[in-house]
Amino acid sequence: MSEELRYDGKVAIITGAGGGLGRSHALLLASRGAKVVVNDLGGSVDGSGDGSLSPADKVVAEIKEAGGEAVADGNTVSTQEGGKAIVQTALDNYGRVDIIINNAGILRDKSFRNMSPEFLNPVLDVHLQGSFWTTQAAWETMREQKFGRIINTSSAAGIFGNFGQTNYGAAKAGIVGLTNVLAIEGAKYNIKANVLAPGAKTRMTEDLMAAMAGGDIDMSPEQVSPIVAFLAHEDCPVSGEIYSAAAGRVGRIFIAACVGYFDKDLTVEKIRDNFEQIRNEEGYQVPGNATEEMGLMMQAMNAAK
Ligand code: NAI
Repeated sequence: MSEELRYDGKVAIITGAGGGLGRSHALLLASRGAKVVVNDLGGSVDGSGDGSLSPADKVVAEIKEAGGEAVADGNTVSTQEGGKAIVQTALDNYGRVDIIINNAGILRDKSFRNMSPEFLNPVLDVHLQGSFWTTQAAWETMREQKFGRIINTSSAAGIFGNFGQTNYGAAKAGIVGLTNVLAIEGAKYNIKANVLAPGAKTRMTEDLMAAMAGGDIDMSPEQVSPIVAFLAHEDCPVSGEIYSAAAGRVGRIFIAACVGYFDKDLTVEKIRDNFEQIRNEEGYQVPGNATEEMGLMMQAMNAAK
């Protein structure tokens, strides 16, 4: 019916692509013509261990066997130097970078009262700093070529909350903030940045997903990759948005603002007495940026005149 979406001539970096979701994104983009940098430093789910290039090498071999083009990269995402080195791999091998899928991640779950720096810092480093520095390393190139597609991997755990994941949730919600600003700063240069909130059975979620979905639901990463590829395509129509995807269901998530309550002589008691209206979701709006959100105040003032 319609034309196949392809990525010929495009170079994509996919971090943490040695397994799970990243591997699936890499295979899909490569199968449609993209040249792919398969980044992964190996290591365990909690980020410990010496690491190894072999997971990334394996994915590169899979891509090549299928007739695609890919190169492995073993740098860490979690430092500015690492981000620069990953982007350099793309530039050295393919001369450009068009797409970045920030996907690398680790887990160090613990209840909030027991969190320590060893549980917080590496999680912030890999997810938040990783997305930040890897993207920044490619930013100038993307601005110059007036093209860039960035997909940052968040999580429902950060957007909505999940027990035992204050570190991970903070990092994943931070990624939403990062993406909001990238979308604004990139708009002039045709750089579009969006967020993925995935759900898939991988080594990271094996136990959780098995318990949740039972046996007969297809929670494979391959059910998540199509929305990622769509957001990475040059025809992607949106920027600064969040998409949830799992088991074949895809839907937008958004942060909205209620109409609220206005009184130019606000008091604590007026808050108490009008709290229902303050929380009333009817007529909500979805501001595209901070200025638009401020505009709601002007709307309320004008309506009260
Ligand atoms: P995974 O553990 O299979 O994949 C993560 C990959 O990142 C691993 O291959 C790991 O070696 C790599 N990695 C870790 N630290 C790295 C670093 N410093 N530099 C480079 N690579 C590094 O897990 P999965 O499930 O595929 O996760 C992918 C992303 O999706 C993560 O950001 C995760 O937080 C997120 N996510 C996954 C969900 C799911 O249901 N599987 C749910 C919500 C979010």
